[in-house]
Amino acid sequence: MGSLADELRERKTLDDEGLRDLLETGDDSLVEELHRNAREVATEQFGRVIWLRALIEWSNKCRNDCLYCGIRKSNRDIRRYSLPRETILECCDNAWRLGVKTFVLQGGENPNGAVALAPIVAEIRASWPEAAITLSLGELPPDTFRLLRRSGANRYLLRHETADPVHYARLHPASMKLENRLACLRELRSLGYLTGLGMMVGSPWQTTGDLISDIRLIESFKPEMIGTGPFIPHHATPLGHFPAGSPELTLRIYSILRLMLPQAWIPATTALATLMPDGRTAGILAGANVVMPNFTPVTVREEYSLYEGKSRPGAEAAETLNLLIKELDKIGYHV
Ligand code: 5AD
Repeated sequence: MGSLADELRERKTLDDEGLRDLLETGDDSLVEELHRNAREVATEQFGRVIWLRALIEWSNKCRNDCLYCGIRKSNRDIRRYSLPRETILECCDNAWRLGVKTFVLQGGENPNGAVALAPIVAEIRASWPEAAITLSLGELPPDTFRLLRRSGANRYLLRHETADPVHYARLHPASMKLENRLACLRELRSLGYLTGLGMMVGSPWQTTGDLISDIRLIESFKPEMIGTGPFIPHHATPLGHFPAGSPELTLRIYSILRLMLPQAWIPATTALATLMPDGRTAGILAGANVVMPNFTPVTVREEYSLYEGKSRPGAEAAETLNLLIKELDKIGYHV
């Protein structure tokens, strides 16, 4: 047997010590081997195909006050919006016409807003029976998860953010508990949603041990999707003075997760691309297989700034998509 990367590929798991070595190594050739193995496994599974998801940031109204997040309720510097029904349908229509057949409706955590979204989800389902409808609306009561599922949603993204309860408590107000989030994830799965979780990389006070706990949680939950990106400070939050997470470490984590869960949908996230100009292609070359171009109307993008720099590339969806397809072509991938 060769390196740790080979061992991880072969066994689809590693002991904690091995994971720690991969996360902390200064050996560039080992890192390159990790990425190469992950890329090969992704290609075995999916070919050189990248899956697109249309991100529609439907509302920034949020009842939570996560200490890292720019749309936390204490931030009074942003205008709060919810897209009207017609606009949401238009975003879906744009996406569908451009060949993007998964719509991701993302928003702040707002239980009443989520209930109001249900008939719109039903309309999307009726208009595009073949589309996948993914929701990312935070923690909601089980009845609301059920209502949205019955309305036609079939996937749900709810990042766990960190799998260590003490670390979780440092990033969130006391009212939020890791336990509740994990209970929501189990509930979602039992309702038949394909489910996604994931953590921020390099969030304040995060240790390698925390990241190993995150990887173990993902390994045991076996989510269909894994959303992971670097922490990026936002000036209007209590954690705004902490440094950003490392893009290189984020890439290692994509590779580790690809080797553990060969079939998972792993996006090269917007946060990664915000810190690294070639983040999307670097993510793919490290084993990611999904990209989520933004279909939110440019007029409200600025109000959905989760972190610094996020709203910077304010291009229209179609334009962004063309650039993306060219970028992918350069590294030999297609949609
Ligand atoms: N940096 C990076 N990611 C962030 N998110 C929220 N705030 C930040 C930030 N400052 C991520 C969280 C959340 C998702 C919608 O955006 O992981 O789950």
